[in-house]
Amino acid sequence: MPKAATVLDELKRAFLLTNKDVLLLSASFHQAMLRGLHGQPSPLKMLPSFLSAPDGSERGLYLALDFGGTNVRVLLVELHGNSQYTILARRQTQLKDVGGRYDYTTSLTSADELFDFIASEVAQIVPSDKDLPLGHTFSFPSRQQDINNALLINWTKELAVSGIEGHNVTKLLAAALMRTGLTRVRPVAIINDTVGTLLTAAYTHQNSCIGSICGTGHNSAYLEPHYRTTDSEMIINMESGNFDKLPLTNYDCMLDAASEKPGHQLLEKAVSGRYLGELLRLILCDLVNKDLISPLLSTPYYLSAEDIAFILTDATPALSNIAKWLVERCHIGNWSIEDRLALKEAAELLVNRSASFVAASYLGVIQHIDPELERNHHIAIDGSLFEKMPGYAQTITRVLHNAHGVKANKITTGLTKDGSGVGAAIAAALALL
Ligand code: BGC
Repeated sequence: MPKAATVLDELKRAFLLTNKDVLLLSASFHQAMLRGLHGQPSPLKMLPSFLSAPDGSERGLYLALDFGGTNVRVLLVELHGNSQYTILARRQTQLKDVGGRYDYTTSLTSADELFDFIASEVAQIVPSDKDLPLGHTFSFPSRQQDINNALLINWTKELAVSGIEGHNVTKLLAAALMRTGLTRVRPVAIINDTVGTLLTAAYTHQNSCIGSICGTGHNSAYLEPHYRTTDSEMIINMESGNFDKLPLTNYDCMLDAASEKPGHQLLEKAVSGRYLGELLRLILCDLVNKDLISPLLSTPYYLSAEDIAFILTDATPALSNIAKWLVERCHIGNWSIEDRLALKEAAELLVNRSASFVAASYLGVIQHIDPELERNHHIAIDGSLFEKMPGYAQTITRVLHNAHGVKANKITTGLTKDGSGVGAAIAAALALL
C-alpha cells in the first residue's frame, strides 16, 4: 500500500469521532465543569466574570478595547437601549508587523511597552472632548477580583510578553493611558472575549446561553443559573481550551512538546486556528516520503489555518489549485494527484475533528444547564474558524443534531460578529448601572 494510504487509514481511525465518542467526551467535559465549579482540581478553571446577562435596555457611549493576541481593536460603541447598537468608529492593528518592523508578542517586550502600544491605539479614536468609560476585553485566562480587576493567570496562544503573568491587567492599562495623556478615558470593566460574545448575543437575542470563540484560540463561557453560595446567575469563563480528557494523537503530542507551554491548553491546541496549520504540517511530513518535503514545509508553523481553508476550497477534479499552491507556497513541484488528494483528506479530517471536539464541549454545557432539553438554547460563536473555515459551522450543527435527535431543533448556533468588542461596551454599561 502507498505510504499516504497507510497514514490516512491511521488518521481516520484517530480523527473520526462517532456519536458515541462525542457523547462520552461531552459527559467527561460536564464532569470537569462540576469539579471546577466546586473548587476541585479540574482542567476547567470556571472563572467567575462578576456579570450576568444584560436585558437589552443598557445604553450610552463607550470605548471598547479588544486584545486577543493577534490584533488590538478599539471600537467606539453606542448602545441604544432597545437591543440595538452602533459601532461609530473602529481601528484594528496587528501586534506583530508583517514587515518585521515591530513585534509585541514575545518575551522581549515588557508590560509597559505592550500597554503603551495599546494606549497609543486607543488614542487614535478617542474624541478629545468627552469623558469615556472603557470596557476591556482581554482574551487570556484571568482571575477576576471584581468586574474591573483581573490578574493574568498565564499567557496562551504562544504569547510571552514579560511582566504581565500574575499582574493586574487593568492597573497596567490605566497607567499606560495616563502616560499617553488619555486622562478622560476610564477603564470600568474587564472581560474575556467569550463573555463578550455571550453579552452581545444576550443583548440582541433571547435564550443565549453559551458564548464561544473558534478563532486563533478557543474557549467558551456560559450562563450559570446557580453560582456557588450566591445562588444567582453568573457568566462563567470556563477556559475550556485547557480541557485535556481527549483522545489525542502523536501529532498533538509533538505539537504540544514544542509549544511555549507544554501540557497546557490541549483542547485549544487540537482545535484552534493558531495550531491547525502546524498539525497539518506535522501530518504532511508523515504522509509523503521525505524527498517530497521542501525545506519550507520543514519549518515549524509554516502552514496556517488560511492554508487549510485554501486546500479545502479546491473543487477542481485534478486538485490543480492545490498543485499551484504546492509550487508557489511550499516550493514543491513533484506531488502526484494521490498525494494531493491525501493532503486534502487530511485537512478535512483535522477540521472535522476540531468542530466535533468543540460541539462535544457545547453538549457538556447543555447537559449541565438543561439535561432534559426542555428549553431553547442559542450558542453564540465568534472567530475566523467558525466564520470562514469551509464546513466548520455545518459540522458543529451536524454533531449537535446527531446527539439530540428530534429535540435538536431546540439548539441553535450563530455567528456573533464583533461580539468580543461590543461585549466590552455592554460590560462597561453593566458596571456603571
Ligand atoms: C484564552 C481564552 C480566550 C481564547 C479565545 C484562549 O487561548 O485562554 O481566554 O477566550 O483563547 O480568544
